[in-house]
Order: sequence, then C-alpha cells, then structure tokens
Amino acid sequence: MLPLQDPSRLVENVPSNPTLALTFALCSLPALAGYYYLYQHDKSRSFADGPRRIRGDGFPWFGYSPERQPRSRSKVSQGPLHQIVAWGKRLAIVTKPMLLVRIESESKSVNTFTPRQDKIGALTGLQDPARLTEVMEERILPITIKALSPSGLISSGLQAAFDQALMSITSELIAKLRASQGHATIRLSDYVFQSIFRATAAAFFGPTFPSSDPDTWSDFSTLISEIHILNSSISKWPLIARKARSARTSMMRTFVRYLEDWWYADGYDRIDGISPMVERFLLAAKEEELGLEEAAGCLFSVFWDAVVNVSSTSFWLMAQVLEDDSTSRAITSEARSRSDYSKARILDSTVHETLRWAPLPQPVRHTAADMAIDVDGKRYIIHSGTQIIADMSDFHFDEDLYAEAQGFNARRFLDDSLPLPRPFGEGKHMCKGMHLAKLQIKSFISTSFRVFDFKSFSRSLD
Ligand code: HEM
Repeated sequence: MLPLQDPSRLVENVPSNPTLALTFALCSLPALAGYYYLYQHDKSRSFADGPRRIRGDGFPWFGYSPERQPRSRSKVSQGPLHQIVAWGKRLAIVTKPMLLVRIESESKSVNTFTPRQDKIGALTGLQDPARLTEVMEERILPITIKALSPSGLISSGLQAAFDQALMSITSELIAKLRASQGHATIRLSDYVFQSIFRATAAAFFGPTFPSSDPDTWSDFSTLISEIHILNSSISKWPLIARKARSARTSMMRTFVRYLEDWWYADGYDRIDGISPMVERFLLAAKEEELGLEEAAGCLFSVFWDAVVNVSSTSFWLMAQVLEDDSTSRAITSEARSRSDYSKARILDSTVHETLRWAPLPQPVRHTAADMAIDVDGKRYIIHSGTQIIADMSDFHFDEDLYAEAQGFNARRFLDDSLPLPRPFGEGKHMCKGMHLAKLQIKSFISTSFRVFDFKSFSRSLD
C-alpha cells in the first residue's frame, strides 16, 4: 500500500527559465517594430466589411499569462466574428459556439491543412511536412476516432495502461521522497508535467521508449517552454531558436531510435507494449510509404497533443485547488474513499471548471478563397488567406451563463443545468482525444490526492 503522509512539498510555479527575460526582450523588438509599422500602415487604409485595425489588448495570444490569475475578458465584446490584421496576417476571430462549424460547412476552401502543416513543421523540423500532414489528415486522424472513443479506450487497454503507469511512477517518487527523509522539494509544474509525460509515453509506446531518461524529459520540457519560438517567424534566428531547435532535433532522434528496428524489419516485428492505436499509426505510415523521420514525426505530433494540454489543465487545476482548503479536502476525501475516479462528482465539476477557466488552445482554420457569411443579420466577408480562430472566452466568461464567471468555483458544475465548457473545438475536427484527456486529468489528480498530502510552499512560508 502507498503511504498517505509523504512529505511532498510542492511549489506552484511554471518552469522558470533564466534566458526567458532576454528572449522576451529580443522577441519584443521586432514585434514592436512590426506593430508600429502596421499601425502606421493601417491608418492609411480602411476595409469595408473586412479586417479592422489591431488593438494592443485585442491579440488573442497576448491575453494568456502563465501566472495564476484569472484571465481578463476582452473589455468590449467585438461581436460573433471580428477581423483584425496582425503583422500582415489577416485573422478572423469567431466567438460564437457552432459558428466555426457553419463557416466550415458553407465553404469547401476552409481547411485545417495549412495550420496543421505549420504546427507539424514547427514541432518536427521536417523540411517538407506536406506529405506527413496529408497522411495525418487522411489516415491517422480516422484511426484516432475509434481508438480514443470511450469504448476504444477500454477495449484497447489504453486507459488501464495509463493508470498503471501513473501508479508505478508515483510509487517511484514516493521511494525517492522517503530516501530523502523529507528534504526533497519538487516544483508543482515539474511534478505535473513529468508524471503525465511519462505515464502517457508508457501507455502509448511501451517500455522501450526512454520516457524515464532525464534527457528525454529535458528535451520535451525545453520544447514546451520554447515552442512559441519555433511557431514564429523568428524560428530561424540562430541565437534565439538554437536551444529550441536542438531540443527538437534530439526529441526527433529519440523517436527515430525507438522506431528503427521495427521500421527496418518491415513490420515483421512487434514493439513490446506498444498500444494498438500507435501500432495502427505505424502500419498506416508504412502503407503510405512515409520515411522513417516522417513516421517519427507522426508519433511525436500525436504524443504532443496527448501530453501538453492535459498537463497544463492539470497544473491549473492543482494550483487552484491547493489554494482552496475546502475543495482540497473534498477532492482528497473523494479520492481516498473510492477507487473509481470516473464517479468522483467534485473532481468532475473541478475538471469542467478548469476547462472553462484556464487558457487553452484555440481551433484554427485557413481559408483558401474569399467567402461571405451572414451572422445575426450582418454579412461578413472573409478573404482568401485569412486564418480563422475560434475563441470561446466570451462564452466561457459570460456572466449570464456562469455567475461570477471571472472566479474559479470548483463546485460550479455540480449544477447539471449549466452548459458545459467548450475547450475541445467543434465540428469534424473537434479534439479526438477529449475522452482520454478527461480520464488522464482525473486519474492524475485522483492518484495525487490519494497518496500525497500537499502543502503549498508559498503559504507555509507565510
Ligand atoms: C485538456 C486537454 C485537451 C484539450 C483542451 C484539447 C484541445 C484541442 C483543440 C482545441 C483541438 C482543435 C479542434 C478543432 O480544430 O476544432 C484539438 C485537436 C486535436 N486533439 Fe486535443 N485537446 C486535449 C487533449 C488531447 C489528447 C489527450 C489527445 C490524444 C491524442 C488529443 C488529440 C487531438 C487530435 C488528434 C486533434 C486533431 C483533431 C482533428 O484535426 O481532426 N487532444 N484538441
């Protein structure tokens, strides 16, 4: 049995990075110069029904702070579809549920290919990610629909494999803490991200993937904090992007090494403990005649989706709950009185509240032709080349739907009549891993509160 009184003292910080301030300063210069240019440039032009001038506080990505604060709602709601130009790019921000689905159904030119290709290119560093993107859309995503459905997760054993791996990682941590005789300290962000990273890797890839190797974790965590650089136009700047590019190359090598024996055995081999879903990805990659690096990139992309958002949601949840004694006690008591986390009501409500409240990714589409759409009696023109982003924060922070919407209320969704948050996108490209994500989060939080007594470092120092 696992002890209940382990002295895990956890600090609620996101990973700090000594080069962050310098990077930010360097990144800000071109951004500010670009902003000034666009401001001047935009003053001299007007769009009839097209993009408006950008405002400082209107950038979708500027509202996201890594600090533990309620996010600020846009001061004035800009309507269900507003358009801006940022650094020469046209953006259309959709804020009404189901509007993205309508836009997709009214124009065949609206697609996920371009944003997916950009994302795969940034994450894998592949010179030409077009072929992999095509295979992801046509072969890999259809596999995930069934494999990651509630019944698929049970029949494939993926859910059980995640739970089991998490237990063994937690036992390992307990042994380390015991050996340190109560003097070890681990940052909350490291505990959360690393546990979910390792448990997901074990469930997806089996024991031959080096998930417990500190170098693998170090590369992955560097990428988490630096991916914004690889996603930006400064990704080729040698000084700034060097660290991120080297972590990416190293991570890709890890996937290549994991795969190569199987790959060159032409499928006449089996990777020990691999999940049936990942095995099907590999068979599809072979059938489509992808290269080894592309196959590695395919696994890396899906793995990234399965770890990063789940970890950040779990982190935000823990950071909130640890500041709230009553919720903390309620979740602990639920976790210790029942082993089936899927039936824990307060935990379930807290997960939904975190998905409503925390900053999470936004669905992105690309338009390859001009289109017009009528919304609430007004006609909008979306020009070819526009990126359409669905931002549900107006919905998530709507005071008419959620009382005191800016606040975090762990018990909010005990009220079954409330509409559930919409963090997983919508339509045919809605998140394929949403069921797995909720299980991963609940399994992790429930295991953590069952076996550890948490103390918030900042409070204990007061
Ligand atoms: C809290 C955790 C998660 C959040 C908030 C999240 C959110 C999202 C969002 C917003 C999208 C874009 C949807 C759209 O474009 O309409 C997406 C796509 C996707 N997610 Fe997740 N996700 C999470 C966890 C996961 C997990 C665990 C997996 C497992 C592999 C996963 C796999 C995917 C895949 C494969 C897609 C692409 C779907 C497609 O384009 O058809 N996600 N996710």
